[in-house]
Amino acid sequence: MSTRIVILGAGGRMGRALVHAAAQFDGLVLSAAVASATSGALGRDAGELAGVAPLGVRVSADLGTALQGADVAIDFSAPQATAAHLAACRAAGVALLLGTTGYPEALEAQFAAAARDVALLVAPNTSLGVTLLLELVRTAAQALPAAFDIEILETHHRMKRDAPSGTALALGRAAGEGRGLSPEGALAAAGAGRAGARPAGQIGFAVLRGGDVAGEHEVRFLGTGETLVLGHRAGDRSLFARGALTAALWLAQRPAGRYFMRDILFQNQ
Ligand SMILES: NC(=O)c1ccc[n+]([C@@H]2O[C@H](COP(=O)([O-])OP(=O)(O)OC[C@H]3O[C@@H](n4cnc5c(N)ncnc54)[C@H](OP(=O)(O)O)[C@@H]3O)[C@@H](O)[C@H]2O)c1
Repeated sequence: MSTRIVILGAGGRMGRALVHAAAQFDGLVLSAAVASATSGALGRDAGELAGVAPLGVRVSADLGTALQGADVAIDFSAPQATAAHLAACRAAGVALLLGTTGYPEALEAQFAAAARDVALLVAPNTSLGVTLLLELVRTAAQALPAAFDIEILETHHRMKRDAPSGTALALGRAAGEGRGLSPEGALAAAGAGRAGARPAGQIGFAVLRGGDVAGEHEVRFLGTGETLVLGHRAGDRSLFARGALTAALWLAQRPAGRYFMRDILFQNQ
């Protein structure tokens, strides 16, 4: 039987990419598409909006109705909506894959509470390649002697607002964990605007902006006479949509609990 998915933020760039990618996925059916109450997408056919064939699913702002009979909701909308989306999924007993970023830190307590009732996966990066890269970086940082300096280099298109990227920061945390630093300790150790000789133990970040680069991340472990380079290149946003759909199909089969992207790669299917 097909997994019934609901897309929250259906009118956005990622929402449309999800509907587009879903058309090529086996084993799922789009049961509803949700936008904000003021969205210009309301009433439009979700398929047409995404540039695929009409799906007979009209974009609606009625979250409660949309979640009825659904197996999993995928949220790529706005951080102001995260708390309401979480509460609605919990009340409806529907699993939630949260791809939206920038939600308030204070929501962590609500995530823990919701995960007692539904399967919850908070996924700031739904790329399967980046998910594996984080694990490889953690392992390399743990295995290599501290004499290897760690530098993280990221490149994004000229319109990107934040720097370093959320993924670069996550890579820094993973490297820090490998080195036995707390997440905060890892970022505090990050060298920014250094002058003079490189202090030992820092994790450095370098940021490049330009063109239409979707996202490139590289972690270099610089030793004496050798450098290990681990990296990832994103083609376009459809990779995040495919990763999210893969994760959502996996999540729909799971009991209530808190899950992470790495579970999809390393837990038994
Ligand atoms: N996890 C990942 O791998 C990943 C990858 C890419 C992006 N993201 C994140 O995903 C989010 C969306 O990105 P995007 O590029 O698609 O942004 P976007 O194009 O701005 O789309 C966001 C959409 O959410 C809608 N929205 C706002 N409030 C809503 C509500 N209450 N209910 C339903 N929809 C609502 C917006 O407006 P209307 O409903 O008014 O049309 C808009 O259509 C961002 O937080 C971004 O950082 C995550």
